[in-house]
Amino acid sequence: MNNATNLVITMDGTCGSGKSTIAKRLAERLGFIYLDTGAMYRAVTWKALRSPVDLSDREGLIELAGKTEIRLRRGEEGTKVFADGQEVTEVIRTPEVTNAVKFLADLPEVRRHLVAEQRRIAASRSVVAEGRDTGTVVFPQADYKFFVDAPLEVRTERRFREFEKKGVKISQGEVRDDLEKRDHADRSRPVGALRLAPDGIVIDTGDTEDIETNLNKIISYIKTT
Ligand code: DC
Repeated sequence: MNNATNLVITMDGTCGSGKSTIAKRLAERLGFIYLDTGAMYRAVTWKALRSPVDLSDREGLIELAGKTEIRLRRGEEGTKVFADGQEVTEVIRTPEVTNAVKFLADLPEVRRHLVAEQRRIAASRSVVAEGRDTGTVVFPQADYKFFVDAPLEVRTERRFREFEKKGVKISQGEVRDDLEKRDHADRSRPVGALRLAPDGIVIDTGDTEDIETNLNKIISYIKTT
């Protein structure tokens, strides 16, 4: 157990598996903080893109990450993300940020800093932490560890439909290639790579994308273990 009063539940997994939606809903259901670690990497990246620091400048990026104050605040409409006091919840989701995150997420010093922040957030509250390394690196003593995944073809089909709904012109092949590229980046990251914790529970969302069904599967573990 992490601590007598605060629970830590981790949710790692692949892009497009549905882990974010599940983690968010689980946190709401339990009244825990939704600790979106990806949003923290995104927020620092967003700031870097607006700074004179070049993405190839390691030292510059490390310094910038150390100086950025990231806050996650729970409100009526879910958790909002702030970087140096400015709300960035939506602007950190653009393709520009998504494509640049790896420059920061691959730097061990940046990860060390953000991991320390993530532990600080969980020190005083119960959390559902979502990301790639939350069960392996950030919270190896977590109370429950989940690993959410689905076959690449299923994730491609779902992402493609989402894009279609939004009117974004993209082919299935492009969606598939992008997911494959991100899987590779996540699994081969020099530090904090995506992998299943030895005591992690795999949740395969390939059979159904019904959130309630997948959520109930997770909750059943939390109650019975
Ligand atoms: O989950 P997401 O797509 O919002 O994550 C954004 C990026 O941050 C993604 O490229 C993977 C990276 N990331 C990471 O390296 N470690 C984490 N714990 C969470 C996200």
